[in-house]
Amino acid sequence: MFFQQTETNNYEIDMERVPQHIAIIMDGNGRWAKKRFLPRKAGHKAGAEALERIIEDCRDLGVKHLTVYAFSTENWKRSQEEVDAIMDLLRQYLKNYFKKFLKDDIRLNVIGDIHRLDQDIQDSILEIEDLSKDKTGLFVHIALNYGGRDELRRAITKIAAEVEQGNLKAEDITEEMISDHLDTANVPDPELVIRTSGEERISNFLLWQIAYSEFFFTDTLWPDFNRASLEEAIYYYQNRERRFGGR
Ligand code: IPE
Ligand code: IPE
Ligand code: MG
Repeated sequence: MFFQQTETNNYEIDMERVPQHIAIIMDGNGRWAKKRFLPRKAGHKAGAEALERIIEDCRDLGVKHLTVYAFSTENWKRSQEEVDAIMDLLRQYLKNYFKKFLKDDIRLNVIGDIHRLDQDIQDSILEIEDLSKDKTGLFVHIALNYGGRDELRRAITKIAAEVEQGNLKAEDITEEMISDHLDTANVPDPELVIRTSGEERISNFLLWQIAYSEFFFTDTLWPDFNRASLEEAIYYYQNRERRFGGR
């Protein structure tokens, strides 16, 4: 076994048992800004910068899939000003920063219903997904206008259409078929789900896929989440006993 002793804390990670798929609910941007008497959009900007760093850290640690919750189907309820600020930040990232990932062997994919996003954002998403499609280092899945219930509804609509067309019998629907019709088709379920900012709820994230995931909740606000926090989460995961319903 190869252990990595980190400089910043005492969490020793077994590099051979790093989770293949980590999912993160990046929460607390607004509170981070409030504490500094800054507008909420400054918190979202700091959050985007934290994500840049965590993507690199996950790649370095050998994680294969990272899924991050960036904008939920419920987040449209926020003020127009905040939604616009988040969309502008996204636009900026898609146009500039994410291209940098290409040389870092990072593949990008968006989950969620992108049709509600502005056309130029949709175009950039498709472009970057296509440009990065052969990268094999780390696969980053960004959840945008994503809701677990909406994803299941869309999957069920597709399966129902196959039944309607006579290609499938209702009683032949399997769990695998449902998984294959989700936005995360072909992606293994996350072993570890992290939520920052002290909230301990799932907020409509990956409802189907987290059936047997381990959860790590931390009070750290997302913009402050760093390599040491990530290693702490992985350490915690590695020291849990996963039973999957067995004894
Ligand atoms: C998470 O931070 C980012 C998004 C939901 C877009 P929040 O904006 O929810 O931050 P808090 O929870 O208000 O602190
Ligand atoms: C969940 O955070 C969504 C994202 C992190 C994108 P929220 O801040 O929207 O969730 P609630 O409102 O606390 O449940
Ligand atoms: Mg929040």
